[in-house]
Amino acid sequence: MSEVLSSAEAFDERVHTRTAHVGIVGLGYAGLPLAMVFAEAGFAVTGVDLSEPRVQAVQERRSYLVDVPAERYETLNGRLNATTDYAAVRELDALTICVPTPLSKTRTPDISFIVSAAESVAQNLRPGQLVMLQSTTYPGTTEEIVLPILERSGGKVGEDFFLGYAPERVDPGNKRYSIRNTPKLVAGVTPECLRRTELLYRQVVENVIPVSSPMVAETAKLHENTFRAVNIALANELALMCDRLGISAWEVIDAASSKPFGFLPHYPGPGLGGDCIPVVPHFLAWRLREYGYSAQLIASAHEINASMPLHVVQRISDALNDAGKPIRGSRLLLLGMAYKADVHDTRESPSLEVLRQLEARGADVRYCDPWVPQLDLDGKRHSGVEWNTDEVRAADCVVVLTPHRQFLQTPLWDEADLIVDTRNVVPPGPGVRSI
Ligand SMILES: NC(=O)c1ccc[n+]([C@@H]2O[C@H](COP(=O)([O-])OP(=O)(O)OC[C@H]3O[C@@H](n4cnc5c(N)ncnc54)[C@H](O)[C@@H]3O)[C@@H](O)[C@H]2O)c1
Repeated sequence: MSEVLSSAEAFDERVHTRTAHVGIVGLGYAGLPLAMVFAEAGFAVTGVDLSEPRVQAVQERRSYLVDVPAERYETLNGRLNATTDYAAVRELDALTICVPTPLSKTRTPDISFIVSAAESVAQNLRPGQLVMLQSTTYPGTTEEIVLPILERSGGKVGEDFFLGYAPERVDPGNKRYSIRNTPKLVAGVTPECLRRTELLYRQVVENVIPVSSPMVAETAKLHENTFRAVNIALANELALMCDRLGISAWEVIDAASSKPFGFLPHYPGPGLGGDCIPVVPHFLAWRLREYGYSAQLIASAHEINASMPLHVVQRISDALNDAGKPIRGSRLLLLGMAYKADVHDTRESPSLEVLRQLEARGADVRYCDPWVPQLDLDGKRHSGVEWNTDEVRAADCVVVLTPHRQFLQTPLWDEADLIVDTRNVVPPGPGVRSI
């Protein structure tokens, strides 16, 4: 078996003829869309996930992610399957590990999911297989953590098995950029590892960009997200400064954006959300501590971004105070619990912290989010209210946190007594405060 499968020609032929069997370990926000594009390109794809409900949903062709509607299964002719059983790995030619990489409370990377997935893959590793890591992680993970685990199976990388790193850049909900037209960075532990990784991704991504090592690709992914976190912090700091100056940060940013070079607009908001941008820069900072380097800009950006929910609470409190109302007992309507517009995802959403802080101050808080009908927070279940005139009129203050299209398409701003708008989507008026 090893001779046939491990020869470069045999691998290439299986890829070119779409007879290669591709696996995706971890069928979440990043893994399932990737499984889908490989299946759409004609490959037989097997998803491996420890979550029984997710595996069942794939098997029954049910949607559980906004980017993967049920209709997308219709063109696949059964090419996408899923299982909880790692024995399926033995049948694969290539597989990508796409499991979570959260941060602990002390902001240290938790790579236990990668370790566990790699160990399960190693137990089922077959000669000639290409294993790729796709999870976002700190520089060095592919070669220092995953490689030794796979080598325990007895094989040699670049000869008996192949290992690459190809970070995910997908922006959930983005209509313009999908997996296919977002350039893909790829790296390999050896030149043959890189060649195979590149070849496979070329079948599903228009522009594949090889880099010289997994560590370069790992760090590039972290740098992209750090760039966002730092620039958003800059915009948030501008909002804090403009608040004191009594001018609009958005007007300042729009004015600065008229410069046709050297400026890239970023906008303020209630804080950072999602499982990437607030989390990822800490992977870099954490790893660099080992080298005696303290990433000061990352630390400052984190401090500013993390302070924004409390700033929003202060703005709500000030606005109520001006109306002669205390925060305790005031009825507040929060718009948007997801971390960004038109997605279901509430991971790391700053809206959660705003809700938590307002409840701690004794406010009577309700939320409206057509994308998040229910919310479990700190052991308490919250149910969203409808976006309608009665709810808006009944609120002492309406707080715009996430500008979902439903709010913008049916604006009810004229019905509200007081609005705190963290996203600059409400037209100016006497009862409208910005952050
Ligand atoms: N969500 C995004 O938009 C996005 C974008 C870029 C990169 N990423 C990165 O992609 C990786 C995955 O993130 P996600 O958002 O898809 O996570 P997710 O939580 O949505 O999904 C991860 C899946 O992995 C499964 N899983 C966990 N441990 C497993 C194991 N040992 N074996 C098999 N399955 C296992 C879980 O059951 C879950 O279904 C992370 O490193 C993340 O940082 C995510």
